[in-house]
Amino acid sequence: MNDRVTIHTLQEKKQRGEPIAMLTAYDYPTAALLDQAGIDTILVGDSLGMVVHGFETTLPVTMDMMVLHCQAVTRGAKRPLIIADMPFMSYQTSLEDALRSAARLLAEGGVDAVKVEGGQPIAPTVRTLVDAGIAVMGHIGLTPQSVSVFGGYKTQGKSIDAARELIADAHAIEEAGAFALVIEAIPARLATLITDRLTIPTIGIGAGAGCDGQVVVTHDMLGLFERFTPRFVKKYADLSTTLRDAFAAYCADVRAGEFPGREHEFSFSDELWSEIADEFESLQTAKDAEGAKEKQKGI
Ligand code: KIV
Repeated sequence: MNDRVTIHTLQEKKQRGEPIAMLTAYDYPTAALLDQAGIDTILVGDSLGMVVHGFETTLPVTMDMMVLHCQAVTRGAKRPLIIADMPFMSYQTSLEDALRSAARLLAEGGVDAVKVEGGQPIAPTVRTLVDAGIAVMGHIGLTPQSVSVFGGYKTQGKSIDAARELIADAHAIEEAGAFALVIEAIPARLATLITDRLTIPTIGIGAGAGCDGQVVVTHDMLGLFERFTPRFVKKYADLSTTLRDAFAAYCADVRAGEFPGREHEFSFSDELWSEIADEFESLQTAKDAEGAKEKQKGI
């Protein structure tokens, strides 16, 4: 349990049929808690644009934002494999941009690997990164950076042609050298078929139990993102309610004068306090005498 998780650990888990547990993290405390809970791998997903920064989509997320969040996560978690999303247009524009962006996430962000969205068209990018010594995770199916092409967050691969295309995408990403593949929002049977055909592990999100591992957005499973919750998410906590109740209790305590209590105060020793009180009193007496003199003079 103490050994660092590597891409080989994930490969071995697939071979042994041991499910891989992955969640997202964007900050230090969450990363530390995930590490303590025994998570295998953490994704610093560009979903942070929506669940942390409040954007409508993941598209406004920048490299600078990703690097900052990666730094916080890598300070918090030491054992899990940490993977960072390459943000929108940080790798689609050219192979050189892809190399530069991935290098920043690894060198400045401190992550172990990067994730790119897309199938066959993105395979040359995956190959270029892998050839440069960068571990790459693929992501097919409902790829949020292409939300406008899909016309919304919709299940993918539902027709025979779309299913064929997804299978071809999965093979193209594996052949390009990716070490694992996220499969999002596709029918469970299709995800199982892809998982059985690939040698690299598949990590499903809304893709059924037949994948080699599972990932969801941590804010969704904690009930911390209230705008919408995808049907495939199981809520393990209702933190929105817990936090809102705590904030309301704090406001009520402050307004009622019940916080801070004596136990939250810092104390002075009686000796030191009488010294300060004496000094303050003699200063005040001198000031009062000066004031009285000036009054007499009519100043
Ligand atoms: O950005 C993200 O969190 C993701 C997961 C949903 C797989 O890509």
